[in-house]
Amino acid sequence: MATNQAVTSALQAVLPDLSTAEIEAKIEAPKDSKMGDLAFPTFTLAKVLRKAPQQIAADLVEKMDQSAFEKVVATGPYINFFLNKQSMTAETLKAVLAAGQNYGQNDDGHGQTITLDMSSPNIAKPMSMGHLRSTVIGNALANLAAKNGYQPVKINHLGDWGTQFGKLIYAYKTWGSEAEVKADPIATLLKYYVEFHDKAKEDPSLDDEGRAWFKKLEDGDPEAQKLWAWFREESLKEFTEIYDRLGITFDSFNGEAFYNDKMDKVVNMLEDKDLLQESQGAQIVDLSSINENLTPAMIKRTDGATLYMTRDLAAAIYRKDTYNFAKSLYVVGGEQREHFVQLKAVLSLLGLDWADDVEHISFGLITFNGKKMSTRKGDVVLLKDVLDDAHELALSQINDKNPGLANKDQVAEEVGAGAVVFHDLMNDRTNNFDFKLDEVVRFEGDTGPYVQYTNARAQSILRKANVAVDENGIALDDPQTWDIVTALSNYPATVERAFSNREPSVIAKYALTLARAFNKYYANSKILADDENLNGRLALVKAVSTTLTNALAILGVQAPEEM
Ligand code: ARG
Repeated sequence: MATNQAVTSALQAVLPDLSTAEIEAKIEAPKDSKMGDLAFPTFTLAKVLRKAPQQIAADLVEKMDQSAFEKVVATGPYINFFLNKQSMTAETLKAVLAAGQNYGQNDDGHGQTITLDMSSPNIAKPMSMGHLRSTVIGNALANLAAKNGYQPVKINHLGDWGTQFGKLIYAYKTWGSEAEVKADPIATLLKYYVEFHDKAKEDPSLDDEGRAWFKKLEDGDPEAQKLWAWFREESLKEFTEIYDRLGITFDSFNGEAFYNDKMDKVVNMLEDKDLLQESQGAQIVDLSSINENLTPAMIKRTDGATLYMTRDLAAAIYRKDTYNFAKSLYVVGGEQREHFVQLKAVLSLLGLDWADDVEHISFGLITFNGKKMSTRKGDVVLLKDVLDDAHELALSQINDKNPGLANKDQVAEEVGAGAVVFHDLMNDRTNNFDFKLDEVVRFEGDTGPYVQYTNARAQSILRKANVAVDENGIALDDPQTWDIVTALSNYPATVERAFSNREPSVIAKYALTLARAFNKYYANSKILADDENLNGRLALVKAVSTTLTNALAILGVQAPEEM
């Protein structure tokens, strides 16, 4: 596949029945460049249009607006495009510079709302690498939604309810200390929880104590409520440190507990539709009418307690009522696939026509230096440590390359965190991958710092030139810049594709491609030479920096001007 905005638009106008993606998929680069810069084969259209491919090619060329091209020729079953490089260069660069940070913005969404369930860690437990993935993928998708004209709503569906809180309350009351929790909330609460389980192995009556405290919590006992709220707040403070370091904010922290008083409504709806069945004392919804292989959804346990599923049903309905979303995205690891299939199945059995707008955005597992990250004692890789290590690695490279840099510490943070985030987003969302910090925080190779460094290099050229770029007088005719211009002109289509595929990696890969093209050019030309093309070259440099910054911003990665 070889894409080009001008070719796609020209074809789109004469082939209204094909989607942009279908057209893009067919465009290719001719083997011999004498045949043209890009080609579009017409074989596959013959059946639908009931004409010979040669005839189709000739007819389409006849009808097409050719003003953007040097020429367009029908050669047998191909349409060959010869791009008018000089005018395309001028137009593309002007478009980027005029739009600035809004380059690539479109209005596909017409302001409709998209909710994103993202991050959603569990209170009193360390945030896992999986939650990190959910956080950064969710954030990038929210940014992409906004770039595509939607209004994103980022919801942190905190895991803040469940029997474990009864155990924690008991543990805290029996052997905990306020000062200890305050000093290191999550680690301390986790320690209590682990200790509870160790002790309960010796003395099973502890489980009853835990259950009793959870019951109190559910019944609104003030002491239980107060402790729960405090654990939640302390945990959230710690999560917020990580969110702040990543520059990620949320529109809502309504977690599982928020739906406590919204469960009856769901249960009533299910009863009204006669969907609830009893099975071994529990209340379930049979889903075999939707798919015979689907396990029933558990709505209430034997003891009457509601479940994760019940809360998600209440949350889905609440979100539709509150935000009237066009799409409701759940950025959650692949291990919960079945849960979301069940969720959608129950929503559609309830006759809610928006059930199809619910999408599980699944992702693969990360291993850390070959190890799975786990919350078991002694085997925890803490995100905070990952970010600290990334910061240190970035700092040591800055000290090597640019020891005199001002605000080194802040830049090291932007590079370290940026490296971790970029690496996460560079991989296809559903792939599993291993994370080795020293490969991720490098200024060369397929890394975030490489893209950041390229942008800083472009910024430094502009500083050295120290003249304003004239957007209207761009004259540049240099075959060496062609790859860069093509990439720049493809950015708006890339922003669309990344969002329609729900795939931030499309943007990360794009940024790498653009950075590589620019570095190749940089190595082979005298950008600052004082000749009649200087303004054009500076416009190119500025457009590259603008677009790299723009792409990094979508990913949630900073673009320091110097590093
Ligand atoms: N807290 C859950 C977990 O850590 C993730 C919640 C995902 N969101 C949802 N609406 N179920 O596994």
